[in-house]
Amino acid sequence: MFGIHKVQLVLATTPYGHYKNLSSTEMPWPVNLHDLSHFASVTTNSVLVMGFRTYLATPKPILNTLNRQYFVISNSDLVPRFNQIKNINQLNEKLFFPKTLSIIGGKKLWLETADLADVVYHTIINNPYVDECNESVIPIDKLFKNKKLMFSTKPYGKNCEINTWVR
Ligand SMILES: NC(=O)c1ccc[n+]([C@@H]2O[C@H](COP(=O)([O-])OP(=O)(O)OC[C@H]3O[C@@H](n4cnc5c(N)ncnc54)[C@H](OP(=O)(O)O)[C@@H]3O)[C@@H](O)[C@H]2O)c1
Repeated sequence: MFGIHKVQLVLATTPYGHYKNLSSTEMPWPVNLHDLSHFASVTTNSVLVMGFRTYLATPKPILNTLNRQYFVISNSDLVPRFNQIKNINQLNEKLFFPKTLSIIGGKKLWLETADLADVVYHTIINNPYVDECNESVIPIDKLFKNKKLMFSTKPYGKNCEINTWVR
């Protein structure tokens, strides 16, 4: 696509693929500073792309920091007009220089862009959160179908594992 030179998916889940809390916009695990710092590092200088509920759940000050810009796929009037797109192809009209796209959620967007993605950064949070409802689970294997696991780091004492899958 014009204006895009790399697509990366960035997500965190439990080992079973739980990625969200059904009763609030909080993550289904205590704040994990190592994952937050990894998120900041891999998304620096990139264009964040997200769905409407991810936008609502994200603290707004972080969206324009670290030389990032952001776009939200949504029909809602609550999203600033400049940052709103109706589908991912509309980015062609918004980006004039080659950029890395960071797809930061939610489920529909990750699944739709998985084949297109060059890299998937998947943090596994070792939290025993269990929820019988499929709505909060993403079938993580579908994200890695055409990828190879290139790096896996398990920082001691950080309660998480970060896997980098590359096409
Ligand atoms: N674990 C993680 O790494 C992580 C990351 C991000 C978010 N989260 C959590 O996940 C939750 C949000 O994710 P979610 O899956 O529920 O919702 P979401 O994808 O963020 O938002 C869904 C809404 O976004 C729009 N949308 C999304 N994808 C679209 C597409 N491909 N085409 C057209 N419209 C699209 C639609 O909005 P309209 O109805 O306005 O058109 C849709 O109703 C939050 O609770 C957040 O805390 C977790």
